[in-house]
Amino acid sequence: RKRVIFDTDIGIDDAMALLFLHYSPDVELVAITSVAGNASIDDTTRNALHVKERFGIAAPVHRGAARASGPALGEGYPDFVHGRNGLGDLAFDEPALREDPLPAAEAIVALAMAHPGELSLVAVGRLTNIAAALALCPRLPQLLREVVVMGGVFGVDGQGGNVSPVAEANIAGDPAAADAVFVSGMPLTLVGLDVTAKTRMDESFIRQLRERAGDAGEFIYRTTRLYFDFYEQSDGSRDCPIHDSSAVACLLAPSLYRTRSRVVRVAIGGIAIGQTVAGEPGADYVSDAWREAPPLQICVDVDADAVRQLYLETL
Ligand code: BDR
Ligand code: CA
Repeated sequence: RKRVIFDTDIGIDDAMALLFLHYSPDVELVAITSVAGNASIDDTTRNALHVKERFGIAAPVHRGAARASGPALGEGYPDFVHGRNGLGDLAFDEPALREDPLPAAEAIVALAMAHPGELSLVAVGRLTNIAAALALCPRLPQLLREVVVMGGVFGVDGQGGNVSPVAEANIAGDPAAADAVFVSGMPLTLVGLDVTAKTRMDESFIRQLRERAGDAGEFIYRTTRLYFDFYEQSDGSRDCPIHDSSAVACLLAPSLYRTRSRVVRVAIGGIAIGQTVAGEPGADYVSDAWREAPPLQICVDVDADAVRQLYLETL
């Protein structure tokens, strides 16, 4: 079993990814760390507590960053995708459970130090908490077993960004944090839009989940109503890309993804802010910024049917 920290801006697709982890027999979830992104930090933390309470998740919830560490692309929250509360405007009572008083970045460091070489970190929001944890503990990269990030886009098969022609939301939400994480030497795999956009769930799949996955299926059905409306307005189809659950699938079943070793840096300003740029490891680039960047893995293809099947079976 993998021991997993889940860093998230819950979020409709984040909640689906959290349930994927929770119900996987191969995972022991040790902490949920919240970050602002799909909604405010108050909302994402409350959403994490709601999902924890509703599904009996044992892992504590640690509150993370309310805002980006530096310049970012865009302002406000994407309520047109995730609803005003971040969970598709699902109505629920204020959770009775409370968050753990230890802040997210400190919790990540404390857990990594307590379990060196054992923890998998899955990060599916902007990387502000992870960069803050790195600043607190520069040897964090050596303490983690593996890190899977949903973020970025590399133009594979012409895939563009979702918040600008070149930028993906989690990276554009805190470009400097992402860049710091990508050059840190963490054992990192990036699951970007190149593969998440190819891994879609449609209405009939969600209805299957609703029939077969108990309250989790009902929860997913209800929270995805608004999500589907958004995608229907933008491209006419009632199906949606599976972003954050793709990071979980890549953790649980890496053989379903084809990867490439690349050095990756992030544009931290200008018109391309938030762009993830990949280079060849070991190439004779003129700048140290590229020559000295450590390689990481970027996903370039996926067996989308197998990912959907794994999701359905797990739930
Ligand atoms: C990412 O942005 C958020 O809206 C989603 O939850 C996902 O993590 C996709 O770009
Ligand atoms: Ca997310």
